[in-house]
Amino acid sequence: MGGFLSFCYRQLTVKPKPLPSNTSLKGKTALITGANSGLGLEAAKQLATHHVSRLILTVRDAEKGEAARTSILEKTPNTNVEIWTLDHEFYDSIVAFQQRVSTLDRLDYALLNAGVKKMEYSTAQTGHETNVQINHIGTSAVSFAVLRALRKTAHQLNAPTRLTIVSSEGHFWIPFHERKAETILERMDDKATFGHQMQRYYTTKLLNVLWTRNLASKVPAEEVVINTVNPGFCYSGLHRHESTGIIKIFLWAFGWTSAQGGHCLVDALVQHDGSHGKYLSDQKETAPSAFVLSEEGKTAETRIWDETIALLQKEVPGVNMSPFV
Ligand SMILES: NC(=O)c1ccc[n+]([C@@H]2O[C@H](COP(=O)([O-])OP(=O)(O)OC[C@H]3O[C@@H](n4cnc5c(N)ncnc54)[C@H](OP(=O)(O)O)[C@@H]3O)[C@@H](O)[C@H]2O)c1
Repeated sequence: MGGFLSFCYRQLTVKPKPLPSNTSLKGKTALITGANSGLGLEAAKQLATHHVSRLILTVRDAEKGEAARTSILEKTPNTNVEIWTLDHEFYDSIVAFQQRVSTLDRLDYALLNAGVKKMEYSTAQTGHETNVQINHIGTSAVSFAVLRALRKTAHQLNAPTRLTIVSSEGHFWIPFHERKAETILERMDDKATFGHQMQRYYTTKLLNVLWTRNLASKVPAEEVVINTVNPGFCYSGLHRHESTGIIKIFLWAFGWTSAQGGHCLVDALVQHDGSHGKYLSDQKETAPSAFVLSEEGKTAETRIWDETIALLQKEVPGVNMSPFV
Protein backbone atom coordinates (compact mmCIF):
# COMPACT_ATOMS: atom_id res chain seq x y z
CA MET A 1 0.00 0.00 0.00
CA GLY A 2 1.00 3.63 -0.03
CA GLY A 3 0.78 4.50 -3.75
CA PHE A 4 -1.88 6.83 -5.12
CA LEU A 5 -3.61 4.12 -7.16
CA SER A 6 -3.71 1.68 -4.27
CA PHE A 7 -5.09 4.49 -2.07
CA CYS A 8 -7.90 5.12 -4.59
CA TYR A 9 -8.58 1.40 -5.02
CA ARG A 10 -8.72 0.84 -1.27
CA GLN A 11 -11.00 3.80 -0.62
CA LEU A 12 -13.39 2.68 -3.36
CA THR A 13 -13.48 -1.04 -2.69
CA VAL A 14 -12.97 -1.54 1.07
CA LYS A 15 -15.90 -0.93 3.40
CA PRO A 16 -14.66 -0.94 7.01
CA LYS A 17 -16.75 -3.11 9.29
CA PRO A 18 -17.85 -2.59 12.86
CA LEU A 19 -16.74 -4.99 15.61
CA PRO A 20 -18.44 -8.39 15.58
CA SER A 21 -21.82 -7.95 17.25
CA ASN A 22 -21.02 -10.47 19.99
CA THR A 23 -18.01 -8.46 21.26
CA SER A 24 -18.63 -7.50 24.88
CA LEU A 25 -16.54 -4.85 26.63
CA LYS A 26 -18.40 -5.16 29.92
CA GLY A 27 -16.15 -4.41 32.87
CA LYS A 28 -13.58 -2.58 30.71
CA THR A 29 -12.41 1.02 30.93
CA ALA A 30 -11.50 2.82 27.69
CA LEU A 31 -9.98 6.25 27.10
CA ILE A 32 -9.99 8.13 23.78
CA THR A 33 -8.15 11.40 23.15
CA GLY A 34 -9.61 14.00 20.81
CA ALA A 35 -13.00 12.33 21.29
CA ASN A 36 -15.42 15.24 20.89
CA SER A 37 -15.63 14.97 17.11
CA GLY A 38 -14.78 13.02 14.00
CA LEU A 39 -13.31 9.55 14.20
CA GLY A 40 -12.65 9.68 17.94
CA LEU A 41 -16.32 10.36 18.70
CA GLU A 42 -17.42 7.60 16.33
CA ALA A 43 -15.00 5.19 17.99
CA ALA A 44 -16.44 6.17 21.38
CA LYS A 45 -19.97 5.49 20.16
CA GLN A 46 -18.94 2.04 18.99
CA LEU A 47 -17.31 1.15 22.29
CA ALA A 48 -20.51 2.29 24.02
CA THR A 49 -22.54 0.00 21.75
CA HIS A 50 -20.43 -2.89 22.99
CA HIS A 51 -21.20 -2.02 26.63
CA VAL A 52 -17.82 -0.68 27.73
CA SER A 53 -18.23 -0.01 31.46
CA ARG A 54 -16.35 3.29 31.74
CA LEU A 55 -15.70 5.54 28.76
CA ILE A 56 -13.33 8.48 29.22
CA LEU A 57 -13.35 11.10 26.47
CA THR A 58 -10.58 13.66 26.52
CA VAL A 59 -11.42 17.04 25.01
CA ARG A 60 -9.98 20.54 24.88
CA ASP A 61 -13.28 22.22 25.48
CA ALA A 62 -15.64 20.93 28.18
CA GLU A 63 -18.71 22.24 26.34
CA LYS A 64 -17.81 20.23 23.23
CA GLY A 65 -17.23 17.27 25.54
CA GLU A 66 -20.74 17.58 26.99
CA ALA A 67 -22.19 17.69 23.47
CA ALA A 68 -20.25 14.52 22.64
CA ARG A 69 -21.52 12.82 25.78
CA THR A 70 -25.10 13.76 24.88
CA SER A 71 -24.72 12.33 21.39
CA ILE A 72 -23.37 9.04 22.81
CA LEU A 73 -26.19 8.79 25.36
CA GLU A 74 -28.83 9.27 22.65
CA LYS A 75 -28.26 5.71 21.43
CA THR A 76 -26.67 4.09 24.49
CA PRO A 77 -28.26 5.89 27.47
CA ASN A 78 -26.74 3.68 30.15
CA THR A 79 -23.11 4.35 29.21
CA ASN A 80 -20.88 5.76 31.93
CA VAL A 81 -19.20 8.60 30.00
CA GLU A 82 -16.64 10.89 31.65
CA ILE A 83 -15.28 14.07 30.10
CA TRP A 84 -11.68 14.94 30.94
CA THR A 85 -9.81 17.94 29.61
CA LEU A 86 -6.52 17.48 27.80
CA ASP A 87 -4.81 19.90 25.46
CA HIS A 88 -1.59 18.71 23.79
CA GLU A 89 -0.53 22.31 23.34
CA PHE A 90 -0.16 22.98 27.09
CA TYR A 91 2.27 20.98 29.17
CA ASP A 92 0.35 21.80 32.38
CA SER A 93 -2.65 20.10 30.83
CA ILE A 94 -0.63 16.98 29.97
CA VAL A 95 0.87 16.77 33.46
CA ALA A 96 -2.56 17.22 35.11
CA PHE A 97 -3.94 14.54 32.79
CA GLN A 98 -1.16 12.15 33.75
CA GLN A 99 -1.91 12.70 37.43
CA ARG A 100 -5.58 12.01 36.86
CA VAL A 101 -4.88 8.84 34.85
CA SER A 102 -2.75 7.58 37.74
CA THR A 103 -5.87 7.59 39.95
CA LEU A 104 -7.75 5.13 37.70
CA ASP A 105 -8.43 1.75 39.25
CA ARG A 106 -8.08 0.20 35.80
CA LEU A 107 -7.43 1.10 32.16
CA ASP A 108 -7.95 -1.55 29.50
CA TYR A 109 -7.91 0.46 26.27
CA ALA A 110 -6.27 3.76 25.30
CA LEU A 111 -6.80 5.24 21.84
CA LEU A 112 -4.51 8.20 21.14
CA ASN A 113 -6.42 9.87 18.37
CA ALA A 114 -6.13 13.65 18.95
CA GLY A 115 -4.54 15.41 16.01
CA VAL A 116 -4.50 18.41 13.70
CA LYS A 117 -3.66 19.02 10.06
CA LYS A 118 -2.31 22.55 9.74
CA MET A 119 -1.52 23.46 6.17
CA GLU A 120 0.21 26.72 7.01
CA TYR A 121 3.16 27.23 9.28
CA SER A 122 2.26 28.23 12.82
CA THR A 123 3.72 27.67 16.24
CA ALA A 124 2.03 26.30 19.33
CA GLN A 125 2.23 27.83 22.83
CA THR A 126 5.36 25.76 23.44
CA GLY A 127 7.15 27.37 20.48
CA HIS A 128 7.14 24.16 18.42
CA GLU A 129 5.52 23.94 15.00
CA THR A 130 1.84 23.16 15.64
CA ASN A 131 1.55 19.78 13.84
CA VAL A 132 4.73 18.64 15.59
CA GLN A 133 3.48 19.79 19.00
CA ILE A 134 -0.02 18.29 18.81
CA ASN A 135 0.56 15.18 16.75
CA HIS A 136 3.98 14.06 17.90
CA ILE A 137 5.18 15.73 21.11
CA GLY A 138 1.74 15.77 22.76
CA THR A 139 0.86 12.23 21.68
CA SER A 140 4.21 10.87 22.84
CA ALA A 141 3.89 12.53 26.27
CA VAL A 142 0.34 11.21 26.58
CA SER A 143 1.52 7.71 25.65
CA PHE A 144 3.68 7.73 28.79
CA ALA A 145 0.74 9.01 30.81
CA VAL A 146 -1.53 6.10 29.83
CA LEU A 147 1.12 3.40 29.66
CA ARG A 148 1.65 3.18 33.40
CA ALA A 149 -2.06 2.63 34.00
CA LEU A 150 -2.28 0.09 31.17
CA ARG A 151 0.66 -1.87 32.56
CA LYS A 152 -0.73 -1.80 36.09
CA THR A 153 -4.08 -3.15 34.84
CA ALA A 154 -2.34 -5.85 32.80
CA HIS A 155 -0.52 -7.03 35.94
CA GLN A 156 -3.75 -7.00 37.96
CA LEU A 157 -5.63 -9.00 35.31
CA ASN A 158 -2.71 -11.11 34.19
CA ALA A 159 -3.74 -10.27 30.61
CA PRO A 160 -2.52 -7.67 28.13
CA THR A 161 -4.19 -4.29 27.81
CA ARG A 162 -4.19 -2.20 24.61
CA LEU A 163 -2.74 1.05 23.27
CA THR A 164 -3.41 2.32 19.74
CA ILE A 165 -1.87 5.45 18.23
CA VAL A 166 -3.60 6.95 15.20
CA SER A 167 -1.23 7.62 12.29
CA SER A 168 -1.99 7.85 8.57
CA GLU A 169 -1.19 6.36 5.20
CA GLY A 170 0.26 9.81 4.50
CA HIS A 171 3.43 8.64 6.29
CA PHE A 172 4.33 6.96 2.96
CA TRP A 173 4.17 10.19 1.02
CA ILE A 174 6.86 12.49 2.36
CA PRO A 175 10.57 12.85 1.66
CA PHE A 176 11.47 13.38 5.36
CA HIS A 177 14.57 15.42 4.52
CA GLU A 178 14.68 16.50 8.18
CA ARG A 179 16.11 13.07 9.06
CA LYS A 180 19.50 14.36 7.92
CA ALA A 181 19.54 17.22 10.43
CA GLU A 182 21.63 17.15 13.55
CA THR A 183 18.40 17.40 15.58
CA ILE A 184 15.39 16.22 13.63
CA LEU A 185 12.75 17.83 15.86
CA GLU A 186 14.52 21.18 15.85
CA ARG A 187 14.67 21.11 12.06
CA MET A 188 10.95 20.33 11.92
CA ASP A 189 10.25 23.53 13.87
CA ASP A 190 12.05 25.57 11.24
CA LYS A 191 9.64 27.43 8.96
CA ALA A 192 12.04 27.00 6.03
CA THR A 193 11.50 23.23 6.16
CA PHE A 194 7.68 23.33 6.47
CA GLY A 195 7.25 22.24 2.86
CA HIS A 196 4.06 22.46 0.89
CA GLN A 197 0.50 21.78 1.97
CA MET A 198 0.32 18.55 3.94
CA GLN A 199 4.03 17.73 4.10
CA ARG A 200 4.57 18.67 7.76
CA TYR A 201 1.33 16.95 8.83
CA TYR A 202 2.31 13.74 7.06
CA THR A 203 5.79 13.88 8.57
CA THR A 204 4.26 14.02 12.05
CA LYS A 205 2.17 10.97 11.12
CA LEU A 206 5.43 9.22 10.19
CA LEU A 207 6.71 10.15 13.65
CA ASN A 208 3.61 8.47 15.13
CA VAL A 209 4.57 5.25 13.33
CA LEU A 210 8.21 5.48 14.44
CA TRP A 211 7.21 6.28 18.02
CA THR A 212 4.77 3.37 18.19
CA ARG A 213 7.36 0.91 16.94
CA ASN A 214 10.01 2.05 19.40
CA LEU A 215 7.62 2.12 22.33
CA ALA A 216 6.39 -1.37 21.44
CA SER A 217 9.97 -2.63 21.33
CA LYS A 218 10.37 -1.55 24.97
CA VAL A 219 7.12 -3.00 26.38
CA PRO A 220 6.37 -6.74 26.35
CA ALA A 221 3.31 -7.72 24.29
CA GLU A 222 2.19 -9.76 27.31
CA GLU A 223 1.69 -6.45 29.15
CA VAL A 224 0.37 -3.99 26.58
CA VAL A 225 -0.27 -4.63 22.90
CA ILE A 226 0.77 -1.38 21.20
CA ASN A 227 -0.07 -0.72 17.55
CA THR A 228 -0.68 2.13 15.13
CA VAL A 229 -3.56 2.53 12.69
CA ASN A 230 -4.35 4.30 9.46
CA PRO A 231 -8.08 5.11 9.67
CA GLY A 232 -8.38 5.74 5.93
CA PHE A 233 -9.40 8.97 4.23
CA CYS A 234 -12.61 10.09 5.95
CA TYR A 235 -14.99 13.01 6.24
CA SER A 236 -14.17 14.92 9.42
CA GLY A 237 -13.19 18.32 10.75
CA LEU A 238 -9.54 17.43 10.19
CA HIS A 239 -9.68 18.86 6.68
CA ARG A 240 -11.07 22.25 7.74
CA HIS A 241 -7.78 24.09 7.24
CA GLU A 242 -7.63 23.14 3.54
CA SER A 243 -8.61 26.22 1.60
CA THR A 244 -8.87 24.72 -1.90
CA GLY A 245 -11.94 22.91 -3.19
CA ILE A 246 -9.84 19.90 -4.18
CA ILE A 247 -10.29 18.23 -0.82
CA LYS A 248 -14.07 18.39 -1.24
CA ILE A 249 -13.82 16.66 -4.62
CA PHE A 250 -11.50 14.04 -3.16
CA LEU A 251 -13.79 13.43 -0.20
CA TRP A 252 -16.80 13.18 -2.49
CA ALA A 253 -14.99 10.70 -4.74
CA PHE A 254 -13.07 8.63 -2.21
CA GLY A 255 -13.98 9.61 1.35
CA TRP A 256 -15.24 7.18 3.94
CA THR A 257 -17.65 8.36 6.61
CA SER A 258 -16.36 9.25 10.08
CA ALA A 259 -18.16 6.14 11.33
CA GLN A 260 -16.17 3.97 8.91
CA GLY A 261 -12.95 5.61 10.11
CA GLY A 262 -14.14 4.92 13.66
CA HIS A 263 -14.59 1.24 12.73
CA CYS A 264 -10.90 1.13 11.75
CA LEU A 265 -9.83 2.70 15.05
CA VAL A 266 -11.92 0.37 17.20
CA ASP A 267 -10.82 -2.64 15.16
CA ALA A 268 -7.15 -1.80 15.85
CA LEU A 269 -7.84 -1.15 19.53
CA VAL A 270 -9.90 -4.25 20.31
CA GLN A 271 -9.07 -6.89 17.69
CA HIS A 272 -5.66 -8.06 16.40
CA ASP A 273 -4.23 -9.46 19.63
CA GLY A 274 -0.94 -10.22 17.85
CA SER A 275 -0.41 -6.73 16.41
CA HIS A 276 2.26 -5.52 18.84
CA GLY A 277 4.45 -2.92 17.09
CA LYS A 278 2.44 -3.33 13.90
CA TYR A 279 0.78 -0.87 11.50
CA LEU A 280 -2.83 -1.55 10.56
CA SER A 281 -4.63 -0.30 7.50
CA ASP A 282 -7.93 -1.51 5.97
CA GLN A 283 -8.46 -3.39 9.27
CA LYS A 284 -5.44 -5.61 8.51
CA GLU A 285 -1.87 -5.76 9.72
CA THR A 286 0.14 -4.42 6.84
CA ALA A 287 3.67 -3.19 6.14
CA PRO A 288 4.42 0.45 6.92
CA SER A 289 6.44 2.45 4.39
CA ALA A 290 9.69 1.08 3.00
CA PHE A 291 11.47 3.94 4.76
CA VAL A 292 10.17 2.83 8.16
CA LEU A 293 11.47 -0.70 7.55
CA SER A 294 14.84 0.44 6.15
CA GLU A 295 18.06 0.76 8.14
CA GLU A 296 17.75 4.53 7.80
CA GLY A 297 14.23 4.31 9.16
CA LYS A 298 15.41 2.30 12.16
CA THR A 299 18.08 4.91 12.85
CA ALA A 300 15.47 7.67 12.59
CA GLU A 301 13.19 5.71 14.94
CA THR A 302 15.88 5.60 17.64
CA ARG A 303 16.82 9.23 17.10
CA ILE A 304 13.21 10.39 17.37
CA TRP A 305 12.83 8.42 20.59
CA ASP A 306 16.00 9.90 22.11
CA GLU A 307 15.25 13.43 20.95
CA THR A 308 11.67 13.31 22.22
CA ILE A 309 12.71 12.01 25.64
CA ALA A 310 15.36 14.75 25.88
CA LEU A 311 12.84 17.40 24.84
CA LEU A 312 10.25 16.24 27.37
CA GLN A 313 12.85 16.07 30.14
CA LYS A 314 13.89 19.62 29.39
CA GLU A 315 10.48 21.17 28.76
CA VAL A 316 8.12 19.11 30.93
CA PRO A 317 9.88 18.01 34.08
CA GLY A 318 6.47 17.02 35.52
CA VAL A 319 5.93 14.21 32.99
CA ASN A 320 6.76 10.84 34.45
CA MET A 321 8.51 8.69 31.81
CA SER A 322 9.46 5.81 34.05
CA PRO A 323 10.51 3.06 33.53
CA PHE A 324 12.11 4.41 30.35
CA VAL A 325 13.91 7.34 31.94
N1 LIG B 1 -10.01 12.15 8.70
C1 LIG B 1 -9.06 11.59 7.95
O1 LIG B 1 -9.16 11.50 6.72
C2 LIG B 1 -7.82 11.05 8.62
C3 LIG B 1 -6.90 10.34 7.84
C4 LIG B 1 -5.76 9.84 8.43
C5 LIG B 1 -5.53 10.05 9.78
N2 LIG B 1 -6.43 10.76 10.52
C6 LIG B 1 -6.15 10.96 11.95
O2 LIG B 1 -7.30 10.67 12.72
C7 LIG B 1 -7.26 11.38 13.95
C8 LIG B 1 -8.60 12.01 14.22
O3 LIG B 1 -8.84 13.01 13.28
P1 LIG B 1 -10.30 13.35 12.71
O4 LIG B 1 -10.25 13.08 11.28
O5 LIG B 1 -11.34 12.74 13.54
O6 LIG B 1 -10.29 14.96 12.89
P2 LIG B 1 -11.11 15.91 13.86
O7 LIG B 1 -12.56 15.69 13.73
O8 LIG B 1 -10.56 17.27 13.61
O9 LIG B 1 -10.69 15.42 15.32
C9 LIG B 1 -9.47 15.75 15.89
C10 LIG B 1 -9.61 15.72 17.39
O10 LIG B 1 -8.33 16.12 17.94
C11 LIG B 1 -8.59 17.18 18.87
N3 LIG B 1 -7.47 18.10 19.01
C12 LIG B 1 -7.05 19.07 18.17
N4 LIG B 1 -6.07 19.80 18.72
C13 LIG B 1 -5.85 19.28 19.95
C14 LIG B 1 -4.99 19.60 21.01
N5 LIG B 1 -4.18 20.67 20.97
N6 LIG B 1 -5.02 18.85 22.14
C15 LIG B 1 -5.88 17.82 22.24
N7 LIG B 1 -6.75 17.47 21.28
C16 LIG B 1 -6.74 18.19 20.15
C17 LIG B 1 -9.79 17.91 18.30
O11 LIG B 1 -10.38 18.74 19.30
P3 LIG B 1 -11.10 20.13 18.87
O12 LIG B 1 -12.43 19.74 18.33
O13 LIG B 1 -11.19 20.88 20.16
O14 LIG B 1 -10.22 20.79 17.85
C18 LIG B 1 -10.65 16.73 17.91
O15 LIG B 1 -11.30 16.19 19.01
C19 LIG B 1 -6.10 12.38 13.81
O16 LIG B 1 -4.97 11.89 14.53
C20 LIG B 1 -5.81 12.39 12.33
O17 LIG B 1 -4.47 12.71 12.03
C21 LIG B 1 -7.58 11.25 9.98
